[in-house]
Amino acid sequence: MSKHQEATTAKRRWRSMLWTVLAVFFLAAALPSASYLFAQTSSGELPQRQFSEESETNPRSDMWRSARRGEGGFTNQSGPYVTNELINNSGENYRQIRMGPLTTVGGWFLVVVFLAITAFYLLMGQKKIDGGRSGQTVVRWQTYERFLHWLVALGFVILAVTGLSLLFGRTVLIPVFGHVGFSAWAEVAYSTHNLVGPVFAVALVVMILLFIRHNVPNKTDLQWFKQGGGIIGNKHPSAGKMNGGEKVWFWVGVFALGLTAAVTGFIALFPNWGFQTREIMSLVLILHATAGILWIGLFLGHAYIGTLGTEGALEGMTRGRVDVAWAKQHHDLWYQDVLASGEKPVSEEELKARKHQTGPSGSAAGQQGS
Ligand code: HEM
Repeated sequence: MSKHQEATTAKRRWRSMLWTVLAVFFLAAALPSASYLFAQTSSGELPQRQFSEESETNPRSDMWRSARRGEGGFTNQSGPYVTNELINNSGENYRQIRMGPLTTVGGWFLVVVFLAITAFYLLMGQKKIDGGRSGQTVVRWQTYERFLHWLVALGFVILAVTGLSLLFGRTVLIPVFGHVGFSAWAEVAYSTHNLVGPVFAVALVVMILLFIRHNVPNKTDLQWFKQGGGIIGNKHPSAGKMNGGEKVWFWVGVFALGLTAAVTGFIALFPNWGFQTREIMSLVLILHATAGILWIGLFLGHAYIGTLGTEGALEGMTRGRVDVAWAKQHHDLWYQDVLASGEKPVSEEELKARKHQTGPSGSAAGQQGS
C-alpha cells in the first residue's frame, strides 16, 4: 500500500471512530428520553416546573409545608393508627424533649441527689443507736414481707440500671464503650427492661396492697415532720410502725411514681390497645422516663437511710428482727403496740439456742423472722 493510501485509510478509521462515539452519546441520551416522551404521551401531563412570573416559589415546597403541618392528603398506606400522614412532627418534638430536658435536667438531678446524700453522710455520719444495742430483739418484718421487699428491690435495681442505660446511652455510654460496645449492651438492656418490667409491676402492686395498712397518714406524722424527723440533732420524734418519712417514700415513691412508671410502661410495651396515637405514645414515654428518674432519686434516699444512714435498720429487712433500743428510738409507738400484742423481746443468746434446738430450717424463731 502506498503512503497516500495508508493516510486515507487512517483518516477513514478516525472518522468512523468519531461517528461511533457520537452515535453512542446520542443513543445514550435518546433512549431514556424516548421513554420519557412515551410516558408523557400515554399518561397525559408530566410534572413541570411551574414557577409563576411574579413569585419564584416552587409549588412543591407548599406540598412539603402542608405535609409538615399534618394536612391530610392521599396515601395508599393502611393501618389502624397513623395513616394519611406523610410527615409527623410529634416524633421530632418527642426527640427534642428526650435529648434535651429529659436527659440534661434528669441526669443532673440524679447527680445532685447522689452528691447531696454523700455530703450528708460525710458531714453527719451514721445515725447511731443511742446508748448502744440492748441485745434484745423483736420481730419487725415477716418472711413473706421481706421476700416481697427484696424481690421488688432486685427488680427495681435491674430496671433502673437498664432504663438509665437506654436513656443516657448516647451521652454517657457511647463515649465510654463506643458504638459497637454500646449497641451490644443496649440490646441486652432493652430486652431485660421489657421482660423484667411486667413481673416487677405485679410484685409492686402486691407490695402496695400489703404495706398500705402501715402507711395510713395520721397526726403523729405531722409532729414527726415538725421536728424534722429527728434527722438533725438528738431528738427522736414519736412514730408508729412507719414514720412520716417512710410514708412519703411509700405514697410518693412506691405508690404514685411506681404506679405511673408501671402503667406507662405497659402502655408503651403493648401499643395496640386502640388509643395509642403517636402523640399519646410520646407523652407516655416522657412520663415513664420522668417518673423513673424521680423514683430513682427518692430510692437513693431510701436505700441510704436503710443501710449506711441508720444503725440497725437493715437487719429488720434482712433477718426480720430489730434491736429493742432501735425500736424505742425510731418507732416508740409501734414498740408499745408490739408489747401490747403480747410479744416478748428475745435475747440474742436465746435466739441462738432456739436455732440450735430446731436446726437452721423451720424454726419457730425463723418463721417470725430470725
Ligand atoms: C436495694 C435497696 C434497698 C434497701 C437497702 C432497702 C432497705 C429497706 C429497709 C431497711 C427497710 C425497713 C425500714 C424499717 O424497718 O423501718 C425498708 C422498707 C421498705 N422498703 Fe426498701 N430498700 C431497698 C429498696 C426498695 C425498693 C426498690 C422499694 C420499692 C420500690 C422499697 C420499698 C420499701 C417499702 C415499701 C418499705 C416499707 C416502708 C413503708 O411501707 O413505708 N425498698 N427498705
